[in-house]
Amino acid sequence: MPRAAVCREIGSPLEIVDVDLQAPKAGEVRVRLGASGVCHSDLSVTNGTLLSPLPSVLGHEGAGVVEEVGEGVTNLAPGDHVVISWVPQCGECYFCKHGQGELCEPGSAAAMSGGLLDMTSRFSAGGQPLFQMAASGTFSEETVVPAIGAVKIPGDMPLAAAALIGCGVLTGFGAAVNTADIAKGDTVAVVGCGGVGLNVIQGARHAGAERIIAVDMNDGKLQTAQKFGATDLVNASDGDPVATVMELSGGRGADVAFEVIGLADTIDQTFNMARRGGQAVLVGVPKMDVMTTIPAALGFVIMEKQIRGCWYGSSNVHQDIPKYARLYTEGKLMLDELISNEITLGGVNDALANMGSGSIARSVIKYS
Ligand code: APR
Ligand code: ZN
Ligand code: ZN
Repeated sequence: MPRAAVCREIGSPLEIVDVDLQAPKAGEVRVRLGASGVCHSDLSVTNGTLLSPLPSVLGHEGAGVVEEVGEGVTNLAPGDHVVISWVPQCGECYFCKHGQGELCEPGSAAAMSGGLLDMTSRFSAGGQPLFQMAASGTFSEETVVPAIGAVKIPGDMPLAAAALIGCGVLTGFGAAVNTADIAKGDTVAVVGCGGVGLNVIQGARHAGAERIIAVDMNDGKLQTAQKFGATDLVNASDGDPVATVMELSGGRGADVAFEVIGLADTIDQTFNMARRGGQAVLVGVPKMDVMTTIPAALGFVIMEKQIRGCWYGSSNVHQDIPKYARLYTEGKLMLDELISNEITLGGVNDALANMGSGSIARSVIKYS
């Protein structure tokens, strides 16, 4: 019986319990997790910001080893090392065929349902069914996921580093290299330098940005941002961050500005610090009732600014996960440096509580 961290209701700490895990059905695989990152979206489920059916096994940033495959699975075999994708991508639906696998029809429906592709979960405890967050459920020693939601990586890649690819890297690095149009020499601003924002920063550097202005309220996070490639650091608590970014970019504004928190105020700031003709890319997930008001004439038409939403870094996970594993091996993607704290499953509540602390980029649960 695997042990798992279960969120029973909004506002309660996760409970660490033994769970029952059904065998994989057709088209599914059972994965023994090696590691799982603790992401802000996990916290967002526990506090009601992100709506996800409860009770549920949380966790959606994981990597592990395939133990068992269901009927008809041909792309994976026991022993394969995989990163779990929290949007399973079928490759066949309208969105997958139009280069927008992050919006995959069956994959998104499964992720929203708290189950797998047939909308049912494989977890239960004491006879009570438990949902699994985002078709994943990586806060568990083992999970069952769709075979199209597990992507093979080289067997010698450390699983703690690989786990971070599953959300923070795909989302953040992808926002910079897939969603945004960053040209060589560009000036980029990144508002929010947590686990995801740091990946936007290293993605922007990879895309050729010359100046990368990191904005955060926490000096510790800004110092980490510098290690990931930020060239200018702005503490948002010292005056108006929009004015500071304007000043740093010759009064013009950033070619591309990213919001990586999910707050109404910082979304406004991000839009305002993008230059005329530039882009604001929204990566952070706001509460469902957050609205944004932009002057239509001045903001969009006369200044010709664009806002782009970014879901899962606009990633094709079947291409991008192996690509990121390769970049890591070549020393071009910092993953070990993102891990500030290795914990056991029992430490997950502390990790969620410490998320705001300046010293933590990512806490990673290591399973033995
Ligand atoms: N101004 C500037 N920075 C801020 C502000 C603010 N008003 N409020 C919070 N921050 C900073 C925090 O100091 C922290 O460094 O935003 C960062 C958020 O980082 P994390 O909590 O580590 O969150 P992360 O896991 O990076 O996720 C960010 O992306 O995927 C989504 O759901 C996720 O919405 C969340 C966002
Ligand atoms: Zn996440
Ligand atoms: Zn699809």
